[in-house]
Amino acid sequence: MPKYMNTTTTIPVITIDGPSGVGKGAVSLRVAHHLGWHTLDSGALYRVLAIASTQRAIAANQETALANLASQMEVQLIALPDFSDTRVILANSEVTAELRTETCGQLASQLATLPAVRQALLERQRAFRKPPGLVAEGRDLGTVVFPTAPVKIFLTASVEARAQRRYHQLQQKGIAVTLEHLLNEITQRDQRDRTRQVAPLIATSDMVVIDTTGLSIEKVVALILNNWSPKHLLAPN
Ligand code: DC
Repeated sequence: MPKYMNTTTTIPVITIDGPSGVGKGAVSLRVAHHLGWHTLDSGALYRVLAIASTQRAIAANQETALANLASQMEVQLIALPDFSDTRVILANSEVTAELRTETCGQLASQLATLPAVRQALLERQRAFRKPPGLVAEGRDLGTVVFPTAPVKIFLTASVEARAQRRYHQLQQKGIAVTLEHLLNEITQRDQRDRTRQVAPLIATSDMVVIDTTGLSIEKVVALILNNWSPKHLLAPN
């Protein structure tokens, strides 16, 4: 193995950023499966912090306590063998179902506005960069967490299409919710994630933007894979 392959920064990363319900989760897992790489669902870290802070009755404005919890909480993210979903374990308890509720997503989005929380989760996220490569999805993966990633993708879709997708996902998981409620929640969460002071959701000029409205997961996966080539391994990044 060439010497440069030993450094963390030369392990390839594909970042996939975008708003909620755009299909980042399913697409990232499939891209990773195809390449035989690791995955990082960074939103799960913010969501698990929301659960852990609720369990400890830490309020959403207790920034220092939340940052301490973010760096210390015991979390495992486990991609299922068929890469259909990520299981999330918090201190030996399975929290996968609770994690996917919109209540949890809303609190996660609030906690994600706190700079100390983001800082505490930064190194935890970077630790997922392991050989042979990583597919990392979230809101600031291409801008802040892995700014030198050789392939950066930004997924978009209309808010209606995203609400529909989320609706079907939650229904499949047995979580009761109305479409109208989801539309409101997603719009509100988007607004917060896009306008916050630290690491807002934004597409930068080095990202490939893909509008997933009306596209199948397979099509989006193929479009992303078109941007990856092993020649990226030879370029310093
Ligand atoms: O991707 P998700 O819906 O599971 O993320 C939940 C919230 O976490 C999202 O509304 C904002 C926050 N988040 C973030 O601020 N930065 C990330 N990289 C990932 C998620």
